[in-house]
Amino acid sequence: MRLIKVSDEEELSRMAAEYVFSKIKRSERIVLGLATGRTPLGMYRHLSKYSKEYKQSYSHVHTVNLDEYVGSRAYHDYMQQNFFDHIGIHKNQTHLPDGNAVDLEKECKRYEEVVKQLGGIDLQVLGIGENGHIGFNEPGTDFSSRTHVVELTESTLRANAKYFTHEKQPRKAITMGIGTILESKEILLLAAGEKKARALRELFQGTINSDIPATLLNHHPNVIVLADEGARSLLEEES
Ligand code: GLP
Repeated sequence: MRLIKVSDEEELSRMAAEYVFSKIKRSERIVLGLATGRTPLGMYRHLSKYSKEYKQSYSHVHTVNLDEYVGSRAYHDYMQQNFFDHIGIHKNQTHLPDGNAVDLEKECKRYEEVVKQLGGIDLQVLGIGENGHIGFNEPGTDFSSRTHVVELTESTLRANAKYFTHEKQPRKAITMGIGTILESKEILLLAAGEKKARALRELFQGTINSDIPATLLNHHPNVIVLADEGARSLLEEES
């Protein structure tokens, strides 16, 4: 795991966007795994700007998102507003789990199949939850898990309550499994702010265990972590 230290959220956003954009520019075809939440917002903003400036085509880009709430399109809307609307990517090339599917188990299988049919994920962007979750893989999730339905923990519900002012906050979500995520060729994890410091300390200095799902990333050979000062504040080398 490679740690890249940045000073603040702005630098993190810019570096993440430069990294992803260079991959988009250099590839003939690329499958991007995308995340939602507050942390990648700046990255999407910069990526949208670069794409306009360089008139970047997205005809060779496919995206698969990590998760969606059950009974909601919150993350569909987020992706549309913060990224897809700005880059002119064809709708057929963007994928998210359908949280409104009648048969959720079937939807999980369909989503796994989408990832498989695309040939797997080349670069997966991840945020990290305060309790160390990745995607919506909450503490206790097995490292071989595939796309599944989860009951969100109180910690996650509390952290994300602010996004549900117009609809009732769902208590369940569909998430790509840890096994699915670990099969990505490369992973870029973004961590900003002191609220993520405990999870980051566990990621780098804790034991690998499913109670802190992010620690399972230590099983992956190609992970870059971009972390700002706040997120690094509990790492031993920082004190
Ligand atoms: C949600 C998302 C995760 C995200 C996490 C952290 O739970 N499902 O993919 O990484 O929130 O979000 P934030 O960046 O807002 O702290």
